Formats: sequence, structure tokens, C-alpha cells
Amino acid sequence: MSLMEEIIAAVDDMPPFPQVVQRAMQALADPEYEVVGLVDILKVDQAITASILKLCNSAYFGLPRKVSSLREAVVYLGANQLRQLLLSGAASKIFEKPNAGYTVFADELWRHALATAVMAQVLRQSRRLNINENTLFTAALLHDVGKVVLSNFVADKYRDIEKMVEGGESSFQEAEKKVLGFDHADIGGKIAEKWEFPQSIITAIAFHHEPARAAKEFRVLTELVALSNNLAVMVGYGTGVDGLACRGHGLLLKKLKITDQGMEELVMLFQLEMAKTCEVAGVDED
Ligand SMILES: [Fe+2]
Ligand SMILES: [Fe+2]
Repeated sequence: MSLMEEIIAAVDDMPPFPQVVQRAMQALADPEYEVVGLVDILKVDQAITASILKLCNSAYFGLPRKVSSLREAVVYLGANQLRQLLLSGAASKIFEKPNAGYTVFADELWRHALATAVMAQVLRQSRRLNINENTLFTAALLHDVGKVVLSNFVADKYRDIEKMVEGGESSFQEAEKKVLGFDHADIGGKIAEKWEFPQSIITAIAFHHEPARAAKEFRVLTELVALSNNLAVMVGYGTGVDGLACRGHGLLLKKLKITDQGMEELVMLFQLEMAKTCEVAGVDED
């Protein structure tokens, strides 16, 4: 089996993305979603129901009385926090796949994923971009999911890649292409296809390092994921060597008309939102 075939087999072995979460995302995509409909979708999954109630009753929210009905908890949390809870719950299981040699890496990668998703949300909000929030959060959260497969299957080659990046001659993605013939974005696209995600998300994941190659209709989304990825690294949520070799976001910043001062505001907003999202996702911030 060639390395690519091996990787494709590994992609096939990836756990499915939970149907309940995908259905809930579809319901939440409608700004006028019906709480009853959403509760009907969620209640079939006991673990999800429990996690929603747990978050609602956590010290973070400090509610004066215990909430025990799913309906009440759904209303209380609202679309934004539900989205974060459901998506991060589903994605964390995929990112935290036991991976003996890379436990630090897995943690770093997961925080990087969350930071990228939060950055994307903050950018969308502050620039008032007309992009579906579910699509954006999902694509940003999962943009590096290909690295999960790669780090599990090509551990020895992974070190060659790291060395090449540390030598300063290539970005992480260029080094992957040189060593493997493909990169984590290609693999991520394949995983998103396997999960039957919409084309917008598949594209944004597959081209998050080369947004100019994305089909025009998905270009803005892909650029936003690419920029959020770079900014997340810039504010300290990178993954080791990856962080040293992120390039080319100046142009995207210009496109969004983000000035230096705008950047400062953005970083502040990001830090606030990141703290909140880490509470919701049950993650230590650093
Ligand atoms: Fe990446
Ligand atoms: Fe990334």
C-alpha cells in the first residue's frame, strides 16, 4: 500500500461526526429556530443532554437554582453557546484520540483549533461579515483535522517535516508536501468529505493554506479560516514549529480593512471570547 492509500484507509477509519450534532447545526442555522424542534433532536442523545445540563448548572453560570429540563437549558444557553458546546464536544473526541507520542501535540492542536474558531467568530462579528456562523465555526474548528490523521500515521516522517520547518527553509505545509507528497489540508478535506459536510466546509478545510485556490463562492469563508488560523498562531495558540512558519496574512488583513488599532481591538475581543469558549468547552486556557 502506498503512503497515500494508507492515509486514505486511516481517514475511512475515523469515527463518524455525530449525526445529532449535525442535525442540531442544521436547526440552529435558522435564526428563528424552534426550541422544541432542537430539544427533540438533542434529547435522543443522553451524553449530549447531560453535557448541556452540566454546563448550564456549572459555577460559570452561577444560576440561583438548578436547571433540570433540557428545554430550559437550551433556552438559557442560546444558539451561540449551544453551537460551541456541541461542536467542541464532538470535535474534542476526534482531536483527543489517544496518540502516545503526541500527547502534548494533541493538546496544543486542540487549543489551536478552538482559538481559530473563536478568532473566526470575532472577525465575523467585528467586520460584520455575511457568513453563516455554523459553517464558519465548524470549518475553523476542524481546519487542521488532517493533522490528527497524519500525526497518528506518519510519526517518523513527521519528525523529518519538523526538522525541515525548524531549518527555516519551508512552511509546515510546504515541508509536508516535500516529505509526503500531500499535506494535512488535503487530508482534512478528505475527512470532511467522509463526514458528508457541505462543500463550503470541505473547501475551507482543504484550502485553508491556499485560500486563493478555493472556488469563488467559498473564497470569503476560506480566506476567513486562513486568516483566523494565522492570527490564532500570532496570539500564541500555535502548534510548535507550525507557528514559526505561518505566512501571508497581510493581504487578507488589508482586504478586511483591519488597521493596527483594529488589530489591537480584535486581540482584546479574542481574549475575552476565548476565555468564555474555554469555559463552555471545558478546556484550560493554557
Ligand atoms: Fe493548517
Ligand atoms: Fe492551523
